[in-house]
Amino acid sequence: MIKGSFPIEKFKNFKTPFYYYDIELLRQTLSSVMNEANKYGYQIHYAIKANTNPKILSVINSYNLGADCVSGGEIQASINAGFSSDKIVYAGVGKSDWEIELGLERNIFCFNVESEAELEVINEIASKKNKIANIALRINPEVNANTHHYITTGLAENKFGISISALDEITENINNYKNIKLVGLHFHIGSQIMDMLSFKGLCVRVNEIQEKISEKKISIEHINLGGGLGIDYHHPNHIVMPDFKEYFSIFKKHLKLYPEQNVHFELGRSIVGQCGSLVSKVLYIKQGKSKKFAIVDAGFTELLRPALYQAYHRIENISSDEKEQEYDVVGPICESSDVFGKNIELNTTKRGDYIVFRSAGAYGEVMASQYNCRELPKSYFSDEMNY
Ligand code: LLP
Repeated sequence: MIKGSFPIEKFKNFKTPFYYYDIELLRQTLSSVMNEANKYGYQIHYAIKANTNPKILSVINSYNLGADCVSGGEIQASINAGFSSDKIVYAGVGKSDWEIELGLERNIFCFNVESEAELEVINEIASKKNKIANIALRINPEVNANTHHYITTGLAENKFGISISALDEITENINNYKNIKLVGLHFHIGSQIMDMLSFKGLCVRVNEIQEKISEKKISIEHINLGGGLGIDYHHPNHIVMPDFKEYFSIFKKHLKLYPEQNVHFELGRSIVGQCGSLVSKVLYIKQGKSKKFAIVDAGFTELLRPALYQAYHRIENISSDEKEQEYDVVGPICESSDVFGKNIELNTTKRGDYIVFRSAGAYGEVMASQYNCRELPKSYFSDEMNY
């Protein structure tokens, strides 16, 4: 079995389970995404929700990305990490008053507004503060992203965005909101999208919507196409980063822009997904009636994705080269869903071996919980291995 390379000797100093980040890979990924985006002048906002580890944020910020936030806490975290507030976009179907106030106080670049009710509240709070809020209308484009239904956002049945049918009324009313400035349109169809045709579908829909809006003589400066580019969870050792070149070229080819329009993206998983691994140790091997269990010291408290979305993460025993056998790899949490994978081929595994869960840099550490009174996992970085 081909495996990732890990500094096992150094790992012996750390208590498991923990997150390990390959900072060189993160840097290579950032160089790639920025080089490809810069070719077309596209602006990238890192989707903070994917990973808010302060060190990861500071590396990302050093490549000059903006930030995409979905809560007041995320706005604060990105400002603390040095992201400039005039590159912060803020989405979310349920923005609380204090979060809107924080966004206004920090003069963030744009609120991505998801309903007319929200527009009214932002207008009211902005008026009290004597401010003008830049807003983009988040439109639900009804484009199928062909991904897991929990992470599909752009269908009529999803709670996100303003429906195309409600758009007419909102754009007609927009001038009544004196403390709002409409600067953009925002779209996001889902996450872990592997089928590039979905992005072409998004472009076609954006073109239609832009045409409709331009008839009303409303000018739109910014088009934000959200995130969603997927990563290869099955081959993290071969396909170490997504094809950003192909991704952006689809938009270049299919998106019709009006003069002076700027294009924005909000990428999360594709930037941080492959650089992180969850490292655990085998506690016990248990022979069940018909299967063998490898019980590790990490559970869904450290990596929720398999339990919540039945997500696949490649699992490697980095301590063994012995012949492969099948195991169900499970955690210690008192729930039957605390399973990382069934019938997984691992090199013969024994107590004390290191088991790593690959491609866990996005939506891994951030979704950790303290259920069962467990400690939150610590994190270690490839460029700080001189312990
Ligand atoms: N923009 C908006 C408005 C979003 O809702 C999201 C993700 C993104 C950008 C970034 O999407 P990305 O480039 O990372 O696909 N916890 C789930 C994923 C939830 C994604 C939520 N929204 C998972 O572990 O798969």
